[in-house]
Amino acid sequence: MNKLWAGRSEQETAKLADDFNSSIAVDSRMARQDITGSMAHAAMLGAQGIISQTEAAQLIDGLQGILDDLDSGTLAVDLQAEDIHMFVEQVLTERLGEVGKKLHTARSRNDQVALDFRMYLREEVDEITALTGALLTVITDKAEAYKAAILPGYTHLQRAQPVTFGHHLMAYSMMLLRDLDRLADCRERMNVSPIGSCALAGTTYRTDRRMEAEALGFDGICLNSIDGVSDRDFAAELCAALSIEMMHLSRLSEELILWSSWEFQFVTLPDAYTTGSSIMPQKKNPDMAELVRGKTGRVYGDLMGILTVLKGLPLAYNKDMQEDKEGVFDACDTVKLCLQVMAGMLPGMKANTDRMLAAAREGFINATDLADYLVSRGLPFRSAYKISGQLVAKCIRERKTLETLSLDEYKEASPLIGEDVYEAIDLNNCVNKRVSAGGTSVSSVETQIETVRQKLADMKGE
Ligand code: ARG
Repeated sequence: MNKLWAGRSEQETAKLADDFNSSIAVDSRMARQDITGSMAHAAMLGAQGIISQTEAAQLIDGLQGILDDLDSGTLAVDLQAEDIHMFVEQVLTERLGEVGKKLHTARSRNDQVALDFRMYLREEVDEITALTGALLTVITDKAEAYKAAILPGYTHLQRAQPVTFGHHLMAYSMMLLRDLDRLADCRERMNVSPIGSCALAGTTYRTDRRMEAEALGFDGICLNSIDGVSDRDFAAELCAALSIEMMHLSRLSEELILWSSWEFQFVTLPDAYTTGSSIMPQKKNPDMAELVRGKTGRVYGDLMGILTVLKGLPLAYNKDMQEDKEGVFDACDTVKLCLQVMAGMLPGMKANTDRMLAAAREGFINATDLADYLVSRGLPFRSAYKISGQLVAKCIRERKTLETLSLDEYKEASPLIGEDVYEAIDLNNCVNKRVSAGGTSVSSVETQIETVRQKLADMKGE
């Protein structure tokens, strides 16, 4: 392809330099955004009298033709081209002749690429938002199914206090809810148009940046042209939001891996989302969850990549910035895949509620409730805590549980203890007494589920 910018140089660039310089393999993904952006630009140039209305119409027609041909496959992207912007303009000029050369009036590739990138990522955010909402629905439905199933809650990976499996799952729903908030915030800051910043300084033509921005669905325009072409915060911010979201998926994956192990046996993952071993016939491996956990590292890498590309750059555009897209695209692709896999796998996850309950019974996880019982009998909490701890130590020595200690043994530890202690340490009662806002009681979990469903409905405008 002849270079559109040929003019100043006396010599051809080296083939190796051309290949090194080319970004079309990565940025051809933005073909539709590039063409749509150019159509709005042509319309603005026509409306402002910078080119004639007839020329504007010809350009828009020509661009629509290129879009249609790319969609139908009659036109293929030329991987020898420097980038998608050059490719589209070149094809347009080949097809339209002289008028094609007018498209690039009052703009630069610097504001063009910033525009395309924002438009592309804006759509990615919308897709990721929908997929996150879908996974949130799946998790919340599971939480409802297990809202009364007792599970040992852990701190330090030591059995701590009884919770319900529904409550535990709702913790993940809350994380995803914040992920949705972050995506919405990020989209808002992203949805500002840089086009019309031109190379860096704005332009002498009487352009109407707001008209162009509005035609492309932006909420406003970048208010400083240097910032307009230099800013990639929106991409870094998206990668940060996606990194946090992946961290959440990774923690859930880690728990699924633990819970499905033979040691825990708390959940069974569906066959459709597990694999066997090529040598060990008994194996059922949680590969999907492991891959989600593993791919979290890629997304963190993508975040580090974009931050590092930007950190030393003087204003305004530098070619380094061509390296901004590949990692960000990878982050979006990865997150979309992981969300789909998780949403596919979780409906088939079965909780082994008997195992969960048995584990809850063996870990003295009602020791806090025993202390609270003594407090209700008039002891200060610290003294109650001590007696409860001594009884746990006795149980461990004598291989008993708090439930199997006799009333005499209890009375020996404290005369304040009566027959009703057994009710106080019953696991179901322990859970359902935790009615504090956001606590683990079934009624509190029901409130959480309702809140999440309402927010999802609000998001969909229902
Ligand atoms: N392919 C380039 C990029 O992705 C487009 C902008 C090039 N601008 C320039 N002045 N060389 O950043």
